[in-house]
Amino acid sequence: MEISTQCTLTYGTFDVLHYGHIRLLMKASALGLPVRIGLSTDEFNILKNKKAMLKYEARKEILLNIKNVVSVFPEETWDQKRNDILKYNAKYLIMGDDWESKFDHLSPLVEIRYFERTPYISSSEIREIRN
Ligand code: CTP
Repeated sequence: MEISTQCTLTYGTFDVLHYGHIRLLMKASALGLPVRIGLSTDEFNILKNKKAMLKYEARKEILLNIKNVVSVFPEETWDQKRNDILKYNAKYLIMGDDWESKFDHLSPLVEIRYFERTPYISSSEIREIRN
């Protein structure tokens, strides 16, 4: 598969999608390129000590219905970003500022933007309310 169009890449679990996620994806979209999401698999979430309420396929289905999100692919390791950036011809890598500076080592390959996290909302909080 040849991918030539540039894109914006982002990563995460995106469990029980909430307005913090939506705002981040809108900021990604505002950069003007199609958005591709590396979505943490259920197995990778275990490594991250995260137990998502929704399975990978359900989280993926929701994300694929968001404007400008053109693909969702599995995030299975911490180290795959370099390959993904090249494979998907990423111009931007965007993350919430809870990840500030964590991916700076990739900056020769891609422009990195850390956007301010939306306060007072997270998937963990929603999962807690449910329990
Ligand atoms: N994010 C954000 N604002 C929030 C929550 C998340 O900007 N209030 C961003 C994160 O910084 C990340 C992306 O959304 O770039 C996916 O985050 P994820 O970890 O899936 O969301 P959280 O709600 O933080 O999940 P959890 O509580 O399980 O850690």
